[in-house]
Amino acid sequence: MIDVVTGFAAAIRFEGVTKAFGSHVVLRNLDLLVPRGAITFLIGRSGTGKSVTLKHIMGLMRPDSGRIFVGDDEITAMRERELRATRNRFGMVFQHAALFDSMDVFDNVAFPLREHSRDSEAKVRSRVLDLLASVGLKGAERRAVSELSGGMRKRVGLARALVREPEFLLYDEPTTGLDPVLAAAMDQLILETQRRKPALTSLIISHDMSAVFRIADKVAMLRDGAVVVEGTPQQIRESSDPLVVQFVSGSLLGPIDASQG
Ligand SMILES: Nc1ncnc2c1ncn2[C@@H]1O[C@H](COP(=O)(O)OP(=O)(O)OP(=O)(O)O)[C@@H](O)[C@H]1O
Ligand SMILES: [Mg+2]
Repeated sequence: MIDVVTGFAAAIRFEGVTKAFGSHVVLRNLDLLVPRGAITFLIGRSGTGKSVTLKHIMGLMRPDSGRIFVGDDEITAMRERELRATRNRFGMVFQHAALFDSMDVFDNVAFPLREHSRDSEAKVRSRVLDLLASVGLKGAERRAVSELSGGMRKRVGLARALVREPEFLLYDEPTTGLDPVLAAAMDQLILETQRRKPALTSLIISHDMSAVFRIADKVAMLRDGAVVVEGTPQQIRESSDPLVVQFVSGSLLGPIDASQG
């Protein structure tokens, strides 16, 4: 299947996915297509189900109905064992970096390799040092995580997500909590990471519209459990939909709808 926005093939696809917690319907017949080899942003107000969508992609949550495909594989038809294998194809950059404070920078990035591969220590070392250099942390490998700034932590988190060469890179709010300069640097790093590996699929959950306009190939906006608008950043910018205009201009001044969490 081809994504109409970018013209690229589908990497991840939701077909009519519904998920409720008790009587609270979070995803409502959601259709979503994430193209391969591009950067897609999933945006939307707090509580609209962005993180829940990410958990479905990772197979950490299962829908009540509908189907989800990763590449050609239907993950909603998989057993736990197959799901675990599929999860190995993903790298995840967590909102708060989720580093191990007891380990230094090097050991944090090396951790997934040491856990999951039988690579020699020399190979691990060269891979980790290469990655640290690529995220601008050359020479920081023996720093304690607790000494790092927020921006450095996010970069360590990105290096760790990349260490096993994932096909899909998922970011949950990669720039939240960073000052505008560090946020722009992180955007640049996300873009360089994508350019270095053209077959990579990047999916970014964000509230940060300036990031969307800087680096997105495609944007999809969630509301009431479904995609209300999708397009290129340019198309989003030109949208006359009041919800989109409000989100883009950042003027979230209206009353917050309780159903939005
Ligand atoms: N395990 C759960 N059990 C019950 N309700 C849940 C669960 N996970 C999420 N929800 C609810 O689903 C809704 C969507 O949550 P989600 O975390 O996906 O929002 P979000 O769009 O990521 O918001 P934010 O921008 O604040 O991170 C919220 O109302 C939340 O309370
Ligand atoms: Mg969230």
